[in-house]
Amino acid sequence: MKTNLVGDSGQKEEASKEKETCGMESLNRQGNMDSNREDGRASLILTLTLSNVRKTELSKAAKVFEMFETQIHHFETRRAKKTKNSADDLDIFVECEVRSADVAVIITSLRRVAEDVKTIREEEVPWFPRKIQDLDKCHHLITKYEPSLDHGHPGYADLQYKKRRAFFADLAFNYRAGDPLPHIEYTAQETATWREVYRKLSSLYPTHACIQYLDAFRQLEKYCGYQEDHIPQLQDVSRFLKERTGFQLRPAAGLLSARDFLASLAFRVFQSTQYIRHFSSPMHSPEPDCCHELLGHVPMLADKEFAQFSQDIGLASLGSSEAEIEKLATLYWFTVEFGLCKQNGSIKAYGAGLLSSYGELMYALSNKPEYKPFDPEVTAVHPYQDQDFQPVYFIAENLEDAKAKLQNYAMKIKKPFSLHYNPFTSSIEVMNTPQKVKRALHQMKEELKNLCLALENLS
Ligand SMILES: [Fe+2]
Repeated sequence: MKTNLVGDSGQKEEASKEKETCGMESLNRQGNMDSNREDGRASLILTLTLSNVRKTELSKAAKVFEMFETQIHHFETRRAKKTKNSADDLDIFVECEVRSADVAVIITSLRRVAEDVKTIREEEVPWFPRKIQDLDKCHHLITKYEPSLDHGHPGYADLQYKKRRAFFADLAFNYRAGDPLPHIEYTAQETATWREVYRKLSSLYPTHACIQYLDAFRQLEKYCGYQEDHIPQLQDVSRFLKERTGFQLRPAAGLLSARDFLASLAFRVFQSTQYIRHFSSPMHSPEPDCCHELLGHVPMLADKEFAQFSQDIGLASLGSSEAEIEKLATLYWFTVEFGLCKQNGSIKAYGAGLLSSYGELMYALSNKPEYKPFDPEVTAVHPYQDQDFQPVYFIAENLEDAKAKLQNYAMKIKKPFSLHYNPFTSSIEVMNTPQKVKRALHQMKEELKNLCLALENLS
């Protein structure tokens, strides 16, 4: 029997389907880590070795940069680690900007005058968003469970429902970062569907949901219009989350590729569908919908530990290989979607796939399935189930412990660079020069000083 796997199955589906459906997309988007840009320019990071610089080698290399009107942002020399010809050999690091069309010829020209010419471009780092506006490009859908394509979808034969879904898809595709979130006039039929789901699920929460979920749910009822006769508006919910954890919502047209979906989490942005499941099947949805997002995901995103956990998965995904994305999507699946945690001597649910599915929430806490301790190394490669209830659930000691374990796991993912999220500019900085690392450290030192002072004042 198919179960209410909603977006959860969808999210997982993304991970496996992405390779099949979006493989070409991901190849097209590969470039160096600063990537080719729409303005026809490319940022390059080069390392090279110049032999015997007392002669003319340095000026020859400089000539190459000059000839191609290279804009140099950073130029650093040091005595060569491996001297080949003389003690005057130099290792050179260059961070620069060039015309995209000139990249290959510049590298070839440099190889004529220098040795060991290397560029980050050769690492083939997949493109990733660097600023929150770049998320406008992260909306690649996985065509699965669509009412217009899938015979098994409850809305497949309902023309009116399909028209309504097309309306929601247009809203999401036309949305740009910074726009107000679309306000929806939900119909009486849509509200009736919400009512049925809300009523049934909220009867289970007091006994099955974790305390963080219950706290946030109470606040959402008090301040954010959560009630059975009203489908909350994304704009209100986004404002609520922003005030608590800095998370915000943006509309999604449906199932997104795992890479795009996880990337948005790095910016504390949650891509949320706005349509509702078909009225004929209120307790089961084969895809994510507003019931899944608003009842499953949103309350947990109001918790600070969980918000950090979610952002950490997102940050780990940026620039990661397809294989690593698959593992991170599996981790996401067994935690954010189907996670359980220990609490006051019992087991409670914090996963959105559980908290938005009456049947699976009961099953997950029934002692019938297998339980394993959350261990990212094991969880990331564990087979999952996207057509039925999970055969195994992973239990975290608590959310803080899960976050620490995930951070350790993420540190082991091999990438040719380190990233730093700047919350002031909502952007990702690539830590590829000592100056950038020093700047970030300086900033942290200032913050630490302030916090130490606060502690002193308290004592
Ligand atoms: Fe989900």
